[in-house]
Amino acid sequence: MPKANEHMVVVGGTSGIGLPLAKAAHALGCKLTIAGRGAGRAAEIAKSIGPGVAGLHLELDDGNSIRAALADGPPIDHLVLVPVDQLATSVKNFDLAAANKALHIKLTGYVEVAHTVLPRLKPTSAIVLFGGMAKSRPYMNSTMITIAKAGIVGVMNTLAIELAPVRVNSVSPSLVGDSPKWEAAVRKGAKPFLDALTAKTPTKRLASVSDVIDAVFFLLDNRSVNGHDLAVDGGYQLVL
Ligand SMILES: NC(=O)c1ccc[n+]([C@@H]2O[C@H](COP(=O)([O-])OP(=O)(O)OC[C@H]3O[C@@H](n4cnc5c(N)ncnc54)[C@H](OP(=O)(O)O)[C@@H]3O)[C@@H](O)[C@H]2O)c1
Repeated sequence: MPKANEHMVVVGGTSGIGLPLAKAAHALGCKLTIAGRGAGRAAEIAKSIGPGVAGLHLELDDGNSIRAALADGPPIDHLVLVPVDQLATSVKNFDLAAANKALHIKLTGYVEVAHTVLPRLKPTSAIVLFGGMAKSRPYMNSTMITIAKAGIVGVMNTLAIELAPVRVNSVSPSLVGDSPKWEAAVRKGAKPFLDALTAKTPTKRLASVSDVIDAVFFLLDNRSVNGHDLAVDGGYQLVL
C-alpha cells in the first residue's frame, strides 16, 4: 500500500475509477493531487475528497495544459494515469481526427505527462498506467480502444527502461462491473451482457473497482515489480 504522507498524483482522478482510487489513497493518508478536465470542477472534486487535496485542470490532448498542471510542484512518489477516450469506432466507420485524438489522450499524452513530471520524480517513485484486456480481446467498435490499450504496454516498457530506477507498470482490467461506466450501462439495459460475461469468467464474478485499486496499490508499492502489465480479469483470458 502507498504510505501516509507519500504524494500521489492521479491523472483522471476526477471521475470514473480514478475518483475512488484517489479517495482510497487519501484514506491511507497520502498527500493527493488529482487532475481532470475543468479547473473549477477539479478543485471542487478535490475539496470533496478532503482538506489539502489539490485539484488541477488537465486535458491530455493539450500539451500546454499538461505542462501548466504538472511542471511545478512537490516531489511525486506515485503517479497514476487513468484516462481513456471512450471512442467507439471501427475500421469500417473510421474517423481519422477522432482516432488521432484518442491516441494522443491514451499514448502520447501519457508520455508527455511522464516527460513533464521527470524533474519531480525520485529514484524510488513508481508509475502505474491504465490499460485493459481489450488490448488482446477486441469487441465491437473497440478498434481505437484496442489499439490504445495494446500501445500502453509499449509505453510501459519504454518508460520502465528510460526512467529507471523509477518503476513503471500497467494494470489491465477486464470489464469492471461496479465502475460508474458499467453501472450506467446496466441502467440502460446491459445487465444480460454482464451476466453472460460473469458466467464465462472462471471466478464467476466480474472485476470490481476495489480489485483494481488493490492491484494499482500493489504495483505502486512493491519495489521489485517493474515493467509488468497486470491482468485483473478473474482468469477470463484463460477461457477465450
Ligand atoms: N470500466 C471498465 O470496465 C474498464 C475496463 C478495462 C479498462 N478500463 C480502464 O480503466 C480506466 C478508467 O476507466 P473508467 O471506466 O473509469 O473510464 P471513464 O469513466 O470513462 O473515465 C475516464 C476518465 O478519463 C478522463 N479523461 C477522458 N478524456 C480525457 C482527456 N482528454 N484529458 C484528461 N482526462 C480525460 C476522465 O476525466 P474527466 O473527469 O475530466 O471526465 C475520466 O477520469 C481507463 O483507462 C479504462 O480504459 C476500464
